Amino acid sequence: MSGRLPFREWVASLQERVEKALARHLPSAETVPARLHRAMRYSCLDGGKRARPLLAFAAGELCAAPAEKLEIVSCALEMIHAYSLVHDDLPCMDNDVLRRGRPTCHVEFGEATALLAGDALQTRAFELVAGENLGAPVVQIEMLRCLARASGSLGMAGGQAIDLDAVGRSLDLPELERMHAMKTGALIRAAIRLGALCGEPLSEPSKEALDRFGQRVGLLFQVVDDILDCTASTAALGKTAGKDSAADKPTCVGRMGLERAREFAGRLREQALESLQGFGERAGRLVEVTDFIARREF
Ligand code: IPE
Ligand code: IPE
Ligand code: MG
Ligand code: MG
Ligand code: MG
Repeated sequence: MSGRLPFREWVASLQERVEKALARHLPSAETVPARLHRAMRYSCLDGGKRARPLLAFAAGELCAAPAEKLEIVSCALEMIHAYSLVHDDLPCMDNDVLRRGRPTCHVEFGEATALLAGDALQTRAFELVAGENLGAPVVQIEMLRCLARASGSLGMAGGQAIDLDAVGRSLDLPELERMHAMKTGALIRAAIRLGALCGEPLSEPSKEALDRFGQRVGLLFQVVDDILDCTASTAALGKTAGKDSAADKPTCVGRMGLERAREFAGRLREQALESLQGFGERAGRLVEVTDFIARREF
């Protein structure tokens, strides 16, 4: 793996690698039903930071995971993530018209196609993880279970349900943390687990430390997203800025104000990094990706 590349080059090379792999693993734009496949490709390709693949690859460095396997789990993670964004943007959810600098999937293709594109991206992700040789069957089943749990009613979908239910209502901090951990943290945490599952087995204490890292960095990811909604521009974000307060969404900034949300993000970053201490040098990329997530501007 490209262990010695400077961070920016490592990110660019992985983004390119994941882009090409996604293009191969999605049905072509001409495959019938073409409109659905175009919507799936539109939502997955040519955009996004690919933060979940970066985490999977960085976690894979702890346990000598082969890049070919990391590439597969990265594609599955991005498909689930893209599905969550397509549905998140629908009029019945956040009603957003801009995503990754382009019209959202339902604006471009209509609501029914966007709904189906999300559904089909999700199932394609599971088909991919089930269909490729990613290790012993028991490991592969664990990967599927991990992805399913992170996406379902106790993970992303459940967090989204809490988010919608909380509009216009104030959540206390533990409730907000739980919602963030579910709607965004769960898939981030799964990205790290899946990356590790691609390599040599880790000891129980190492698994626990890595999972604690995943939990903290997952929460950090959504806290930073909440902060950026009110500090960054629409042009920088590629999605409509300032929408959270306009729509009275439950966010960290709404709950505690901008300064305290920033402090909270700083604490989460420190806790994430502390969890990695036992790994020494091998966690170098995870440290860099944590800072990338904490300091990102979009
Ligand atoms: C945005 O995710 C939605 C959240 C889960 C916070 P990202 O910030 O990872 O979006 P892309 O993939 O880079 O566009
Ligand atoms: C989305 O959270 C979390 C998902 C599971 C998609 P947001 O609603 O804050 O994400 P953005 O800001 O629209 O990207
Ligand atoms: Mg939302
Ligand atoms: Mg949204
Ligand atoms: Mg947001």
